[in-house]
Amino acid sequence: MKKNIILMGPPGAGKGTLAKQLKEALNLVHISTGDMFREAIKAQTELGVLAASYINKGDLVPDDVTIGLVKERLSQKDCEAGFLLDGFPRTLAQAEALDEIAKSISRPIEAVINLDCDNEELVRRISGRRVCKDCGAPYHVVTMKPKVEGVCDLCGGPLFQRKDDNEEALKVRLEHYVSETKPLLDFYKKLGLLESFNSLVGKEELFDEVSSYLKK
Ligand code: AP5
Repeated sequence: MKKNIILMGPPGAGKGTLAKQLKEALNLVHISTGDMFREAIKAQTELGVLAASYINKGDLVPDDVTIGLVKERLSQKDCEAGFLLDGFPRTLAQAEALDEIAKSISRPIEAVINLDCDNEELVRRISGRRVCKDCGAPYHVVTMKPKVEGVCDLCGGPLFQRKDDNEEALKVRLEHYVSETKPLLDFYKKLGLLESFNSLVGKEELFDEVSSYLKK
């Protein structure tokens, strides 16, 4: 089985949704830089205040801050069993730093999963996304409704719309994705690690395809 995995794809491609399924099924540690920043924002820490000033506009948090955060998290003992990076790396500097970190902890990246999705669908997904305030589970007002409106099926927490899930911020997020993150696909292709999947198939079908690939 492949361990130490990177999940890539534009905002709204389904990285977080897939990561939560894979984490349970394959017993991997899920490391989402977006979730880490949102937790810091909720706790109103110094990191949270800094991160919010970038995230709410759709901009990327500076590399030195993000790299430091991931380096610290990857060095923790639970990552020895295997990890799933969701939303990192997003820039060439982050990819190069990750390469160094992975070497230093002797846990090389074994697969990079890229989720393909067209822009029209990304806008539809992001504009309809609702997230549980307590456990972070993602929903969609049309395609992934909770059993009770506004309430998380998993923990009963309230659902809310992320501050950066608006048209203006999404435009900026997509621009950053195209100019800074998408070029990393070539970086990982050259290393023979990249495998792309069509995320337009439903959530369960995508999970089956990706988990079968990772189990090989
Ligand atoms: P982050 O939280 O990583 O956001 P993102 O990459 O923009 O991705 P999203 O969380 O918006 O989407 P997703 O692909 O996880 O989709 P989801 O599964 O929710 O980062 C947020 C911000 O933090 C960044 O903009 C940046 O400012 C900062 N940041 C984070 N990492 C950073 C880094 N490394 N460097 C610098 N800054 C960083 O699904 C979306 C919707 O679609 C949901 O409604 C879901 O129900 C639905 N859906 C999902 N899968 C499917 C499917 N297969 N079929 C149908 N519907 C689906």
